[in-house]
Amino acid sequence: MSNKKLVFPKDFIWGAATASYQIEGAWNADGKGESIWDRFSHTPGKVDNGDTGDIACDHYHRWREDVALMKELGLKAYRFSVAWPRLLPEGRGKLNQAGIDFYDHLVDALLEAKIEPYLTLYHWDLPQSLQDEGGWPARIMADAFVEYADVVSRTLGDRVKNWITLNEPWVSAFVGYRYGRHAPGHTDVSEAIAASHHLLLAHGQAVPVIRNNCPDAKVGIVLNLTPQVPASPSVADKKEATWMDGYINRWFLDPLVGRGYPQDMVSGFGNAMEFVKPGDLEIISTPVDFLGVNYYMRNIARTGNVSETDNAPRTVFRGDEITEMDWEVYPEGIYNVLDRLHLDYSFPAIYITENGAAYKDDISSDGRVDDPARLSYIKRHLEMVKKAILVGVPVKGYFVWSLLDNFEWGFGYSKRFGIVYVDNQTQQRSPKSSAKWYTQVVRENALD
Ligand code: FCB
Repeated sequence: MSNKKLVFPKDFIWGAATASYQIEGAWNADGKGESIWDRFSHTPGKVDNGDTGDIACDHYHRWREDVALMKELGLKAYRFSVAWPRLLPEGRGKLNQAGIDFYDHLVDALLEAKIEPYLTLYHWDLPQSLQDEGGWPARIMADAFVEYADVVSRTLGDRVKNWITLNEPWVSAFVGYRYGRHAPGHTDVSEAIAASHHLLLAHGQAVPVIRNNCPDAKVGIVLNLTPQVPASPSVADKKEATWMDGYINRWFLDPLVGRGYPQDMVSGFGNAMEFVKPGDLEIISTPVDFLGVNYYMRNIARTGNVSETDNAPRTVFRGDEITEMDWEVYPEGIYNVLDRLHLDYSFPAIYITENGAAYKDDISSDGRVDDPARLSYIKRHLEMVKKAILVGVPVKGYFVWSLLDNFEWGFGYSKRFGIVYVDNQTQQRSPKSSAKWYTQVVRENALD
């Protein structure tokens, strides 16, 4: 066996990611306002097993321990999100000092531990009061988000240098407003399309505000990108793949780089898009410093309408390696996404802001959690990241999802994505073998 190492660039950023609602708990502590996820998870039938984020990983009270844990694991960076209703309980206007203090202390502790903060402003926990005014389908959201971005960047901009406006606007818009599987649980495609525009507008308006408050900030946005592979060479399946690529990937990428909304999608949606006002597309395409990519799997695009004349046998089946989410393990896909971004979009820098896998984990009586499948998932994806770097894609860092087992949205606590095991009863944290392995990767800046 060769002992060749895959060495990463000298200044490569190694981190782990979390999100406020998924880990903080303390849902109504110290003046925090209600979020759409509080409302949603408190509504019977919305989340598996009736789970809520009321306590989650109790990170709001255990952040010191969690920062110490990250330090022990040797992480160089930590991607976390701020809970908007903790700072502005009603979404705008009145500030909640206790919320500001929480993030203030967290950032200080991270810097003290030499862990670079990567701050996400919006990872889905919208203040309920803004939803009551219409939420993302309403244009008022853009200005409300700017007010919030201004508060956070004025408070933390002296210390936080890496800023992410939004996490996965596709999920906020379509899973929240079209499919109803996420908060606020609506099922109206027109709302979803308007929401996606106002999310992008909010992003574009916030970028200069953050830069103004923090002149050396690097500002970006995080998208969930999924390669779309036709299930067969049939015309119908290829068309489906193009549609899905437009829906998941191009719908956000194209306007961000100044190409406007993809025409095939606009006509496919059959939406007049009257909410797009003069000047909006320029604001949305304000150049970013980096793009964050969340990658988990590919999608096989398949239509039921393959005709006889297509004469195409089903050639691409989902591989049989799947995670606990029922997501296919397909490491090549992360390379495909990165390569495509480089060729078609040329962002100045790219981070993998999320990548990881849920598996059933068992903890032994002496606190050991062996998770070879997760370790292998991360390793194989990192090999593909390295391959992308070798062909010139400017990938600057990698954040594993997730630091901790946490509240996995509609699945509650039934899915464990952490490299650290969390006992939901005792809140005891136990690094899994993947975490120990990752520590070594970070230390050596290389894969074996
Ligand atoms: C992403 C989310 C993240 C987590 C992972 C599994 O879509 O951004 O919060 O739930 O999926």
